Amino acid sequence: MRDHECVKLRTGKVIRNMCIMTIVVLIVTATVVWACIFTKNMKNAQKTTPIEVTSTTTTMTEETTTTNTLSTASSTTSVTTTETTSTATKGGITNRRWNETGTAVAGGSRRGDRLDQLNSPCIIQIDSDDDRIMYIVERFNHRVLRWRQGENQGEIIAGGNGKGSRLDQLDHPTDQIVDKSTNSLIICDSENRRVIRWFIQNPTDTQQQIILSNFDCSGLAMDTDGNMYVSDYKKREIKRWKKGETNETTVADGPGLGYQVEGGYLPLYFFVDENHSVYVWDNDNNRVLKWAKDAKDAIVVAGKYDTEDIVTRVSGRHGLFVDRNNNIIYACDLVNHKIIRWLNGSKDGSVIVGRYGQGRQPWQFGMPSTLAFDRQGNLYVADYGNDRIQRFDVIDD
Ligand SMILES: *[C@@H]1O[C@H](CO)[C@@H](O)[C@H](O)[C@H]1NC(C)=O
Ligand SMILES: *[C@@H]1O[C@H](CO)[C@@H](O)[C@H](O)[C@H]1NC(C)=O
Ligand SMILES: *[C@@H]1O[C@H](CO)[C@@H](O)[C@H](O)[C@H]1NC(C)=O
Ligand SMILES: *[C@@H]1O[C@H](CO)[C@@H](O)[C@H](O)[C@H]1NC(C)=O
Repeated sequence: MRDHECVKLRTGKVIRNMCIMTIVVLIVTATVVWACIFTKNMKNAQKTTPIEVTSTTTTMTEETTTTNTLSTASSTTSVTTTETTSTATKGGITNRRWNETGTAVAGGSRRGDRLDQLNSPCIIQIDSDDDRIMYIVERFNHRVLRWRQGENQGEIIAGGNGKGSRLDQLDHPTDQIVDKSTNSLIICDSENRRVIRWFIQNPTDTQQQIILSNFDCSGLAMDTDGNMYVSDYKKREIKRWKKGETNETTVADGPGLGYQVEGGYLPLYFFVDENHSVYVWDNDNNRVLKWAKDAKDAIVVAGKYDTEDIVTRVSGRHGLFVDRNNNIIYACDLVNHKIIRWLNGSKDGSVIVGRYGQGRQPWQFGMPSTLAFDRQGNLYVADYGNDRIQRFDVIDD
């Protein structure tokens, strides 16, 4: 689209140069987001990686404009993510459609750390009792916001005290559970290698509790019995702690889980349904696996989607959401900037939102990370690279 604009405006060198500059800026912006993810663990660089990330500029701090280039992918890989939203959310019916033009319900302006700005929102959750309340985990603002739809800013309910390892700080949070029974958040504080409970009641109360330490957590979930699930993105496994017990069980593992890149990893996200089944992306084979409760082996529940993948060899699937009642699986395709749905156990999924490539238009994404539904079936997407939360209204037929 922008190319056409440029052609029309080809009346003078100055304008043309401006167009070129705009395009360059856009490209840089798009790649910055990759920088955010991939530079996370540069220190722990590993050699056997499916994707090579070449850093071409400056420092590795998330605030700076680092230009990274996604250059190769030797195998089919993808990433999995959780939708840890309460089970009260409902994905809906098989013929459901959404308005593909979204509305920014949080963020969407410049990246920043003011209360009306976001920086790399990786998780969006909708409150199980109130559709208007959103919880947003911001990886690079090291905080969790509670944001009421319609208001122009959120409030900090965890972190927000700079990056650090004090009990009142977070360091690259990647996921959380809203635990209504104790009015607390359970947060995967990934760079601090801990899972920490943060009470919402009194924001000045710094009585945080470390639930788990020395653990490379990235994804979290809690089932209907209060059992807790945590993914270890380095060991590529998901463990379960039964409520009240301190010993754990590995409920899903395998080399295809997780997503390793040179210098780092993407979160290992997953989904737990009402029957305590665990769903994860098998990156090596580009499919969704399901471990039924206490099952040793997984079964395949979803596969490829369409053939229009822009980056077919790198499929960074995020944000799984499983509507078991209607046998529907939803996922964010982080790399191809689409939201996908598989109906009825089908091997072939289809795009429901995001048909128009990467961008900042209301019908586009810049790396959609996770998704959620409210009780009306409206779809919410954490648009990670665009620093906004998008809502797509369900269309009633
Ligand atoms: C979709 O949303 C856009 C923007 O809010 C609106 O203009 C349009 O009428 C909506 N379309 C449908 C089918 O609801
Ligand atoms: C965990 O410990 C409890 C007793 O403390 C025991 O009953 C249970 O079988 C153990 N579970 C596992 C998976 O080892
Ligand atoms: C949970 O499992 C039971 C027994 O297998 C099944 O009847 C039920 O439909 C499942 N629930 C959901 C939500 O899939
Ligand atoms: C899904 O499968 C069920 C039973 O197998 C069938 O009744 C239903 O029509 C299917 N729905 C769609 C949308 O294919």
